[in-house]
Amino acid sequence: MLMPFCGSFPTYRPRRLRQLPALRRLVTETRLSVEQLVLPFFAVPGTKVRRPIGSMPGVFQLSIDELVKDAAQAHAVGVPAVLLFGIPKVKDAKASEAFASKGIVQQAVRALKKEMPSLLVITDVCLCEYMAHGHCGLVRPGDKTGRVVNDPTLDLLARTAASHAAAGADIVAPSDMMDGRVRAIRERLDKEGFADTPILSYAAKFASAFYGPFREAAESAPHFGDRRSYQMHAANGDEAVREVALDIQEGADIVMVKPALAYLDIIHRVKQTFGYPTAAYAVSAEYSMIKAAAANGWIDERAVTMEALLAMRRAGADILITYAATDVARWLKG
Ligand code: PBG
Repeated sequence: MLMPFCGSFPTYRPRRLRQLPALRRLVTETRLSVEQLVLPFFAVPGTKVRRPIGSMPGVFQLSIDELVKDAAQAHAVGVPAVLLFGIPKVKDAKASEAFASKGIVQQAVRALKKEMPSLLVITDVCLCEYMAHGHCGLVRPGDKTGRVVNDPTLDLLARTAASHAAAGADIVAPSDMMDGRVRAIRERLDKEGFADTPILSYAAKFASAFYGPFREAAESAPHFGDRRSYQMHAANGDEAVREVALDIQEGADIVMVKPALAYLDIIHRVKQTFGYPTAAYAVSAEYSMIKAAAANGWIDERAVTMEALLAMRRAGADILITYAATDVARWLKG
């Protein structure tokens, strides 16, 4: 970077370029645009279900008929993509509903693609919502430590991803953090005729307290132990870079950093190091904190939301996953 000339003449006066709105826009380095947004949804069984999530004002568990309506509204204001989570009728010890051909996510994908072929449908590939114990993989019977067994879990994840692709998902997004899952999913997709289905890997996913509200929304809190034996420690940046490298070697097409706002340094390093399409997930508590403060009249919801998303873009994120996507799309229209 060139340093500005600091002598007495000519002087570099940064405020020169801030004098007029059009001038400020002309020299804007980073832009937010609707094409970058992804809106998450929580699909539940039934019809006409619209159940508010207490800790996420404005977010609902939706039956597929209602989900299609909200997705259509988002798409109408320009949101190009949705990310689906499912809450099944029954949970068990091997997450059977995660890869059932008539599972909740598989049905939601079919309904969305039928109604809106131009909407990109991304599916979260994880087992925690489908496991009776709430962990993201298989746990040995009687083990109360929450130590998920890695390799036997891979087959379930691969089956789940393939069943999403078979239902018509445009992108599959594994979020479990098992070692080797991107390779297992890639191999399975290729074998089943989905060589062109991209993988968006939750490559650097931290064990974060910012997921609290999500676990209410997805009914996926672990019943014992925690996720620290598979998700990353907030202290580790080098390890995050290694995790992303591994996922890229295994075949990830897009990599994600999650959460976003407290991990902007990781987003920056990942984008600078690999130059891959990079997604940032502004997770549930990032959304809820803004909502709560705004509800108290302490902050300007719109301004704070836009500033946080702009910061993620500045750090290097190409794709922004946010529960506020529909509002943001409207705000961007002016
Ligand atoms: C796991 C998953 C989680 C989130 C997305 N996928 C929660 C977790 O790891 O416990 C969190 C998203 C959010 O907080 O918005 N399937």
